Amino acid sequence: MRIETLLAQLGNGKDHTGAVSYPIYPSATFRHPALGESTGYDYSRSGNPTRQVLEEAIAQLEKGKRGLAFSSGMAAIANCLSIFAPGDHIIFCQDLYGGTYRLMEQIYKPLGLTATYVDTRWSHKIADAVTEKTKAIFVETPTNPTMHITDLRALNKLCQEHSLLLIVDNTFMSPYLQQPIELGAHIVVHSGTKYLGGHNDVVAGLVVAATEELGEKLYFMQNAIGAVLGPFDAWLLLRGMKSLALRMEQSQTSAQKIAQWLQEHKAVEQVYYLGLPGHPGRDVHFEQARGAGAMVSFAVREEKKVEEVLSRVQLISFAESLGGVESLITFPARQTHADIPEELRQQTGVTSTLLRLSVGIENVDDLIADLEEALG
Ligand SMILES: Cc1ncc(COP(=O)(O)O)c(C=O)c1O
Repeated sequence: MRIETLLAQLGNGKDHTGAVSYPIYPSATFRHPALGESTGYDYSRSGNPTRQVLEEAIAQLEKGKRGLAFSSGMAAIANCLSIFAPGDHIIFCQDLYGGTYRLMEQIYKPLGLTATYVDTRWSHKIADAVTEKTKAIFVETPTNPTMHITDLRALNKLCQEHSLLLIVDNTFMSPYLQQPIELGAHIVVHSGTKYLGGHNDVVAGLVVAATEELGEKLYFMQNAIGAVLGPFDAWLLLRGMKSLALRMEQSQTSAQKIAQWLQEHKAVEQVYYLGLPGHPGRDVHFEQARGAGAMVSFAVREEKKVEEVLSRVQLISFAESLGGVESLITFPARQTHADIPEELRQQTGVTSTLLRLSVGIENVDDLIADLEEALG
């Protein structure tokens, strides 16, 4: 079945009652039929029926072997980093979500992991950064917020040569547009808070392992650390995911129109959107994904415009997130990427004139009218 069908049918008929919407099982614990026997569920940190339906769903959608659901995207990423040992080295893409950078620098570095941040648009730069201690490469493609593209097939070859794990944060694309495991990734992570949830009403994280063995390792950490997603939130995520294909199509079509409109605007210096012909990573991107997505970043000509835009938007909310039905605008240098040092931010283009727009499903002409008003 195609992904639109899988999405719409998530959870349907998986329960003995015939429920079309899979039930929420809030039970923290489960009765044992007898000593040494189990219904398959013992305690909800270790496994919960509602969470399990979601975990199986994301594994199927990402074409992996095991899915795991967490209380946030950061908890999912922390769980992945927990499988490494002191002394291990990880290569990250330079233009990385600020929370991931903070987690690595302030939590895992003091615990003995080491990291190098590389411009992963260039395969030779990644190869140069590999050392004897390197165990994994962690990338976002497209990156957040400057839309740099990493060639996942080339990276997979490099990982095979050096026996490295390839971890892809697929939050920006969702499995509807990109399935990194098919391109050679070993682990896929998501902030489920974004496109998968899709309604700005739940914080969640997901991990998918390409193999059973890796899945077991990650499950051990999930159960041991315990940052699991609660059953109510697992249900909300399942419900949101049912309409992922429709939401993504609508948002993407509008994002294309908005990016083209922004490109013509006098106050705008540069637009970062994969759907625009001049984007340098476009060819590679469209070989590994089936759409440009719905995130549009743009740099305004004057720094003072940033504050003007953020205070003037009415329909578009000035708020820190992305991927929901409501359009949001963010100022990455002061919000999502505030924990990245100024020098590194400048290198990757996360400047004090850059704004990031998450295009929702509103009427595109209303969104453009709001931007027109805000840009002046
Ligand atoms: C690309 C990316 N990865 C991970 C995260 C972290 O997810 P969460 O906020 O659900 O913890 C975010 C959040 O903005 C993100 O944009």
